[in-house]
Amino acid sequence: MRVLLTGAAGFIGQQVHACLLERGHTTRTLDSLRADVHRGAPPSVPGLLVGDVRDAVAVEEALTGVDVVCHLAAKVGLGVDVQDLPDYADSNDHGTAVLLAAMARGRVNRLVLASSMVVYGEGLGRCATHGDVTPGPRAEDALAAGRFEPPCPLCGSDLAPALVGEDARLDPRNAYAASKLAQEYLASSWARVTGGSVAALRYHNVYGPGMPRDTPYAGVAAIFLSALRRGEAPTVFEDGGQRRDFVHVRDIAAATVLAAERHEHGVRAFNVGSGIPRTVGDLAAALATATGGPAPRVSGDYRLGDVRHITADSSRLKSELQWSPRVEFDKGVQDLVE
Ligand code: UD1
Repeated sequence: MRVLLTGAAGFIGQQVHACLLERGHTTRTLDSLRADVHRGAPPSVPGLLVGDVRDAVAVEEALTGVDVVCHLAAKVGLGVDVQDLPDYADSNDHGTAVLLAAMARGRVNRLVLASSMVVYGEGLGRCATHGDVTPGPRAEDALAAGRFEPPCPLCGSDLAPALVGEDARLDPRNAYAASKLAQEYLASSWARVTGGSVAALRYHNVYGPGMPRDTPYAGVAAIFLSALRRGEAPTVFEDGGQRRDFVHVRDIAAATVLAAERHEHGVRAFNVGSGIPRTVGDLAAALATATGGPAPRVSGDYRLGDVRHITADSSRLKSELQWSPRVEFDKGVQDLVE
């Protein structure tokens, strides 16, 4: 297959590129090398077209002769503050719209979109009385008082963990999450009009070698590792009990390439997670042990845009595209540290 990979110089993009080449595909790579992501020397990606997905001319050129697009170019993370809103909307949604319009003109009708678990908001919890429920946004006064667990929206009681399936309610809670969901909606409307196919891969928390570090948009594993490298304790927000699913970047790359190879019809969302929820406190402890650094410090701080727990059920990806995660957490942490 001839694949256009946008965001090819990014943390995930580089691994997707390597995986595409390993599996014998021909690639065209596009990346704008944005300065807020690529501080210092950008990574070397052979044949990289330096261009922005918002630039219709650059995109049109990149699309020539392509069978499928893997669209990873995006502004990620929780952002700094509300002043980030226009950039999330512009980079992620306007960028996707320009790409889709160019795909329609160039008759490229298959898309793999890098979406995110954040589209589910607070996810799913199990109430002893009401069964599976979707908690609302956490109130700032509750967070400030150290009440981090979102209660059952119907009776206020505690919730047990539950895994989110693709058909769960969509409820983005911050600018990034909203922009990712808008990308999915734009892609669906494109597919309806053009007959194209879309695999929206809702990536869980990706970690692994090459993670962006020391930027406001870095993921928690990279932030913890940077602190440990400076000889400092990693700072764990809330009480450290927030659950995530940390999935290795090589498993994410394999899922992305399988979707490009196998998903040919219709619009389908797929969760991509390892299937083993862990707490942020567990991650900090594992990294501290692996680096021989100081034990984590639980600060009780919070970020208003954060969700408490979000863990995926990725069985659809396993059964429909025959994906399975291969990198175990302990090995993945070791890999990251090395
Ligand atoms: C992350 C990704 C997002 C992706 C999503 C998929 C980043 C920056 N964000 O969002 O792109 O779509 O996963 O699920 O890569 N925390 C600390 N200490 C810190 C920083 C964060 O304890 O110094 C905690 C946060 O409060 C949060 C958790 O770590 O509970 C994860 O935060 P973060 O890595 O920013 O990721 P998500 O918001 O889960």
